[in-house]
Amino acid sequence: MEKFKWNIPIEIGGHRIKNRIVFPPINTNWAGENGEITDKIINFYRETAAGGCGMIVVSGTAVSPDAKSTDRSLCLYDEKYLSGFMRLTKCIKKEDCFAAIQLMHVGGQGNPDFTGRIPLSPSGIKCMAIGIEPAVLSIYEIADIQKKFINSAKLAYSAGFHAVELHLAHGYLLHEFLSEHTNKRNDIYGGNILNRARLVLDIIKGIRAEVPIIIIGARVSGEDFVKDGINESINRELLPMFQDAGIGYFSVTAGIYDSSRAKHEAMSQGLFFAYAKGIKDMIDRPVMGVGKVLDLITAEDHLRKGDCDMVAIGRGLIADPMMIKKFLNSNKINRCIECDQCRFLRHGSKYLTCSVREL
Ligand SMILES: Cc1cc2nc3c(=O)[nH]c(=O)nc-3n(C[C@H](O)[C@H](O)[C@H](O)COP(=O)(O)O)c2cc1C
Repeated sequence: MEKFKWNIPIEIGGHRIKNRIVFPPINTNWAGENGEITDKIINFYRETAAGGCGMIVVSGTAVSPDAKSTDRSLCLYDEKYLSGFMRLTKCIKKEDCFAAIQLMHVGGQGNPDFTGRIPLSPSGIKCMAIGIEPAVLSIYEIADIQKKFINSAKLAYSAGFHAVELHLAHGYLLHEFLSEHTNKRNDIYGGNILNRARLVLDIIKGIRAEVPIIIIGARVSGEDFVKDGINESINRELLPMFQDAGIGYFSVTAGIYDSSRAKHEAMSQGLFFAYAKGIKDMIDRPVMGVGKVLDLITAEDHLRKGDCDMVAIGRGLIADPMMIKKFLNSNKINRCIECDQCRFLRHGSKYLTCSVREL
């Protein structure tokens, strides 16, 4: 039988990854009161890694206390978090799984109930879904945020991660700098594309200088679905710059909070893969696609069509983390039924639950 393409190893930055299935960042809201790793989080990722995926990107992790997207999202800004994250990387790596962590700052989409402060943004543009006018960051505060990303990357390396993934999508702070929709500044961080990309480029350069060995990935937006947002033509300029600065892989998603309806429609039709395919032509690094891949047959199809080099499976692996091993042994898979219960914030729940799997 011809080998499955999803099961062919791939290299990222000189690291061999055993297969092309990725568990993407999924915020469970199960962290401790101060954003620390809990046993529940360890067990969740242990089971996911044991199921056989080649790579796990640990959920959006805040680079400072006010960078959190939810009240119990993970944080990594101090050495006090290291022991928990070391436990986490150990159980992921034990399964020969590539361990990455997504680093983020919530920016203007921040909720004061979770962060304890007014949201921060490049230009004070209000996210309608949050409804609070954010504060405008000073040049000194921007420099401080740059340091925080670099500090978190250093801690991630100390904790044993192979890679850090910069969250440049979903309308969070770094995305807000890149997009003309939210960046109206007229200093060195606004205006032309190089200025809008400055903070991200400086973060990449800083991480390269401080922890040259760690791989830096980027979660990018293929399409924002808003006027003046990120789209194909902006990405044609932006992404080669990121590649030249040292980005080792690109994970392609789409949409921001204010375009969440368009985003969910596109995602549930699998349209994000068209953006991944477009981006594959713009750069020369592994590209991950995502969106409504609930089984390995669909993943195989995307890889064979050349839509991407790796496929991320979020909800499908939440529903059944053993999907890969079961598929290879021809055992029945507990398939995600797309009930949407896992999107806990949209449904007023406090944390991740699944109607197919008891969590
Ligand atoms: C509960 C939940 C939490 C998520 N948390 C994050 C996150 O922290 N960072 C991120 O970039 N995407 C996050 N996402 C988006 C997923 O990574 C993924 O792109 C999305 O679920 C689509 O993939 P799927 O159809 O395979 O689930 C989250 C999605 C869900 C359902």
